[in-house]
Amino acid sequence: MTTRIFKYALLLLFAGSCLTSCELKQNEKTFTEKEVNIVPKPLKLELGKKSFQISSKTSFYVEDDAQVEIVRHLTGLFKTVAGWEPEVKVGEKATKNAVVLSTKEGMGEEAYELTVTPELITMQASAPAGFFYGIQTLRQLLPVQIEGTSLAENTKWLVPEIHISDAPRFVWRGFMLDVSRHFFTKEEVKKVIDYMAMHKMNTFHWHLIDDQGWRIEIKKYPKLTEVGAWRVDHEDKQWSARPRQQPGEKATYGGFYTQEDIKEVIAYAKSRYINVVPEIEMPAHVSSGVAAYPEFSCKGEPVTVPSGGLWPITDIYCAGNDATFTFLEDVLTEVMALFPSPYIHIGGDEATKTEWARCAKCQKRIQTEGLNNVEELQSYFVKRIETFLNENNRTLIGWDEILEGGLAPKATVMSWRGFKGGVEAAEHGHDVVMSPTSHCYFDYYQGPQDQEPPAFNAYLPLSKVYQFDPVHESMNEEQAKRVLGGQANLWTEHVPNFEHLQYMAFPRLAAMGEALWTPKAQLNWDDFIGRMETQLQRYDAKGINYAKSIYTVTPGITFDPEKKSVAVALSTEASYVDIHYTIDGSEPGTTSPKYSQPFALEQSATIKAVSVKDGKLVGKVMSKKIDLHKATVKKVTYEEAPHKSYPGTEYTLVDCLKGSSNHSDGHWQGWEGKDMDIVIDLEKEIPVNHLTINALQKSGAWIILPKEVEFQVSTDGENFTKVGAATHTIDPLSPDTMMKELGVEVKDLSARYVKVIARNFGKGPKGHMAEGKNVWLFVSEVIVE
Ligand code: ACM
Ligand code: ZN
Repeated sequence: MTTRIFKYALLLLFAGSCLTSCELKQNEKTFTEKEVNIVPKPLKLELGKKSFQISSKTSFYVEDDAQVEIVRHLTGLFKTVAGWEPEVKVGEKATKNAVVLSTKEGMGEEAYELTVTPELITMQASAPAGFFYGIQTLRQLLPVQIEGTSLAENTKWLVPEIHISDAPRFVWRGFMLDVSRHFFTKEEVKKVIDYMAMHKMNTFHWHLIDDQGWRIEIKKYPKLTEVGAWRVDHEDKQWSARPRQQPGEKATYGGFYTQEDIKEVIAYAKSRYINVVPEIEMPAHVSSGVAAYPEFSCKGEPVTVPSGGLWPITDIYCAGNDATFTFLEDVLTEVMALFPSPYIHIGGDEATKTEWARCAKCQKRIQTEGLNNVEELQSYFVKRIETFLNENNRTLIGWDEILEGGLAPKATVMSWRGFKGGVEAAEHGHDVVMSPTSHCYFDYYQGPQDQEPPAFNAYLPLSKVYQFDPVHESMNEEQAKRVLGGQANLWTEHVPNFEHLQYMAFPRLAAMGEALWTPKAQLNWDDFIGRMETQLQRYDAKGINYAKSIYTVTPGITFDPEKKSVAVALSTEASYVDIHYTIDGSEPGTTSPKYSQPFALEQSATIKAVSVKDGKLVGKVMSKKIDLHKATVKKVTYEEAPHKSYPGTEYTLVDCLKGSSNHSDGHWQGWEGKDMDIVIDLEKEIPVNHLTINALQKSGAWIILPKEVEFQVSTDGENFTKVGAATHTIDPLSPDTMMKELGVEVKDLSARYVKVIARNFGKGPKGHMAEGKNVWLFVSEVIVE
């Protein structure tokens, strides 16, 4: 009893003292490094021991109206989550309980310094952009609740005592959104701009035109949006399987931005220090424009706006017709009146120039201009547009195809087909923005394909984005200076709505933001993925539908060639989660065995695994069937080695792992124009019942199933007997990606050696892109049962 009274008295005493010094006590919270999670990581950061609390009595002191607008991006958030908004005062002085912005000459345009003490927060920069980024950082020093959409009761708005000195590595930190393949409203585009600002990105590349929709109002050519912005609604069908518009069908899917909308978006971006670069595609990817004004194509014939995939792109602008250039100059004139951007993107990618080769006007142009071929005609086209843009004090930027046939003299190159185009342009003294598919294409899968919604058939996980360095290793110092920066591109063939846009962009945008902001020497994946936990909480608070693919368990097979055993390794990109698994096909949960290291498989199994974080399941359940068979980890000898681009390993064909539809996933071996001819040594004579191979057809990538697969067996490795052959009836022209088992039943044969000859299809068939050229044979597994 006495003790209880004593405790009560103590409590009262403590409460009493709190009435007078609570504010101070709150400022004494010591933040650990783990609690400071700024993305992108600042250049320099020193953490103190105390903290500053932003309360309703804290004011922001700024020097001018531009700064008022900047700090309102933060003070405005308090209204929703705290119920009050800090006051913003212009031109006054403060020494206590304030956030003070003051201009300091001589810093970089986007650089800032931020100093937080228990009494005061000060921010210095030379230019508004620097203050804007300082405010973004301060926002991330606050509890994640600041990003919320409702009142966060009982939240103390504490900021750690800290000194930050920060500046970006690159001046071009870009994100491209394709609004043609799927349309996104003005309000959705503004949200994208907010997301970019949050990640300190500064260039929004607006892909306004493509075959499947013209999205910008051009007053002089109203049909561009009356006709070009609309297509038949085939949203229920897979992108590449959508039929062309039939007579009488109404075009109801689409949309466009009026010039007023465009102005609004540009102003919105400007107040977030983001430049908006419009992309006006030419000469290809313009079916929507040609549908509206067929007279500007070579054939001059009407076309429809395609509702889905279109390849190759042959209905392009006529380069021999001066009226085309008048049209384009008119369009660009309206575009330049709207967009203050110093850069105008003119596309230039993926033009199939068959019509140029046929067109009398184009041929005449080739003659009169003394050009050698259609590539040089594209170069003529781009140079002519460049002259026009330069006369209007704008710089032309285009995809790396603009290098073909000779680069326009002052053009900036956006390198997407790898780094090569960018390196070449930099060698010739041109500015470059790197945006290679390998690291920058956010339309690619971000997790194992069988666990993800449909995406473009290639793989770009978060960790790969994080490895992006726009300065290619082959560049010297001079060339490196030409690299303005890098850019992530979100093509939207497989992105039907805004929720899915969020899914594809997040969290990869965070990795891109950091790769472009933070000095290379300071990039550290483990540190980044740790900070991302807080960043994901910010996304949660904002209601962003981000992908959780970093939690998806990915199975890998490891071998012990000596023990001849197959082992299963399980991993996740976010290495801090626990993995729990089963091997009997049952559903895994928190009580299933916890994975710690690769485990050997004694027999075929269905492995299921799930990630667990803070005691809860996160991500999806991974399920993988692994069939051990009689050739598993046996020695394979090759009559013909696989091509050096798809070499696999000595166990690729007998590792129990079948390849995915991504032929570069490492599970495939490929032969170009040649047969696969191998012998497997089963080590002793054993009964054999089935012989099968797993092969790929991906006609668009010139990969065609073998014509025939012949199986032979032997007991001595010298004398082989043919025991059967497998064929199929699959059309080599079929556009579908197929993984196919081709095999024979042999019933209780006794064999030590198995010879498999998979006969390459040979030359591309009539009507195929590879007609008359060598095609590829891809095999991922040879199964002996
Ligand atoms: C592109 O991806 N065609 C630039
Ligand atoms: Zn022509």
